[in-house]
Amino acid sequence: MKSKILNRLRGAEEFVSGQQLCEEFGVSRTAVWKAINQLKEEGYEIEAVHNKGYRLLGCPDIISAEEVKSRLHTDWAGCEVRYFDTLDSTNICAKRMAEEGASNGTLVIADKQTAGRGRCGRVWETPKGTAIAMTLLMRPNLRPEKASMLTLVMGMAVTRAVNELYSLNCQIKWPNDVVLEGKKICGILVEMSAEMNAIHYLVIGCGINANMTEFPEELKEKAISLRMITGAEVDRAQIIQRSLEWLEKYYQKFEETSDMSGLMEEYNQMLVNRGSEVCVLDPCGEYRGKALGINDAGELRVEKEDGTTENVYAGEVSVRGVYGYV
Ligand code: BTN
Repeated sequence: MKSKILNRLRGAEEFVSGQQLCEEFGVSRTAVWKAINQLKEEGYEIEAVHNKGYRLLGCPDIISAEEVKSRLHTDWAGCEVRYFDTLDSTNICAKRMAEEGASNGTLVIADKQTAGRGRCGRVWETPKGTAIAMTLLMRPNLRPEKASMLTLVMGMAVTRAVNELYSLNCQIKWPNDVVLEGKKICGILVEMSAEMNAIHYLVIGCGINANMTEFPEELKEKAISLRMITGAEVDRAQIIQRSLEWLEKYYQKFEETSDMSGLMEEYNQMLVNRGSEVCVLDPCGEYRGKALGINDAGELRVEKEDGTTENVYAGEVSVRGVYGYV
């Protein structure tokens, strides 16, 4: 009820009367009054004027289930939103929920993670009140070897969302780090449960550096936040909303062919290392080459110094710039 009322007030330019809300949502005046009071307690500024009704004046920077759900215009992504003040990791939680039967499109959000996980077993920091940590649970009808492409799809969605919202030119460092000015603003970690031919479920975890004003010494060279770039606090719920909306659009395109062929061109335009010298950190031996862009399987095509081309698969290796992280 709270998110429905919030959504209605958000979409209205003028006052919405209590009576209107009762009729539209089929609830009593007391139920509306209670929901409005709860929203006020959560920090929403709602003006209440006798004979006119309610008007939303301001929203706090919170990423609660109501806040996110009330903004979303999606068919399935975020159909169920679960919010936690603190979690070990949204990926761990989403996997647990998947085992318990949670449906495709369930979104888990945490304001703080105590054991956030990054790629290659690294730790991912999610300080309270400033970052975005979210995980989308999916049950795609896809062969397991194709799952890594969904990290690319999520990378595109976040890139497009923040670029549009803040007029930025973020790019993607293959496969899915979102970067700006040579520093990382978002990392993505996909984990799955599958058998040989079928995926049971997969979780796409996404960590966005939103409103941090500084980073620990060891991350300073590599990480940056949207707030540090734009010079102002960013709206975390809006970033979640737009990222999921773009994810749904891009996923629809992906689903048509079950590969990146329909998205390849746009992905390659977003690719920061396209045409640059990269160092491929392959467990079987490092090598250098020029990144040409992805193919329709989402692999990075790298032209080696001897003129041959390697297709690098995202699951196994990472790629560095020759002179640094990008
Ligand atoms: C990377 O190493 O670049 C991937 C980082 C992924 C971090 C996100 S934060 C939300 C989700 N929960 C986790 O524990 N990890 C991912």
